[in-house]
Amino acid sequence: MQQFQQKMTAHFSTLWPAQEKRLVFGEGASDHPDIMLIGEAPGEQETLLGRPFVGKAGKNLDGFLQVVGLRREDIYISNVVKIRPTKVSARGSVSNRPPNREELALFTPYLYEEIMLVSPRVIVTLGNVALKALAGSKAVIGAMHGRAAEVTVTHGKKSAKTAIFPLYHPASIIYNRSLQEVYAEDLQKLKEWLE
Ligand code: URA
Repeated sequence: MQQFQQKMTAHFSTLWPAQEKRLVFGEGASDHPDIMLIGEAPGEQETLLGRPFVGKAGKNLDGFLQVVGLRREDIYISNVVKIRPTKVSARGSVSNRPPNREELALFTPYLYEEIMLVSPRVIVTLGNVALKALAGSKAVIGAMHGRAAEVTVTHGKKSAKTAIFPLYHPASIIYNRSLQEVYAEDLQKLKEWLE
């Protein structure tokens, strides 16, 4: 994993200065964990601390872990894109934006390599960005959430079949009560699937 991270650092430092776009790597149980959780991209807090899912999204993660009965250190947590995609308003304030095509194209091959290294029992994708990165651009969360599916991940000459279990992104359900119920049901289904 260290070698993998060094390779990414070397590649991306040729694209932009490290202090401008800090890479936030995955962390946790990197040797065949039950779950590899994949989000979209780090936010402000994640970039400040250099760790995935530590801001508001980290609080949501606590609820997730409670339901599935695992600790943060039992799973591996990462993002499709390892830098914080930002936009700057006319007034100069910086905010998050979804990753663009170019960022997705840059980071997706590394995500596949990371998955091959970690080799989890199941990949839990959070939201459409992570789902599409693994299941293809036609995959949509509304149709695939809450049940396991199989995807093929390729890196170099190697490819591997991997189970995914798509969930809505916790950030997308904050203001939507009915989606919150769906998310809670999906979590129960994931728990049952793991058992
Ligand atoms: N923080 C992350 O690390 N990933 C997300 O997808 C959202 C917040």
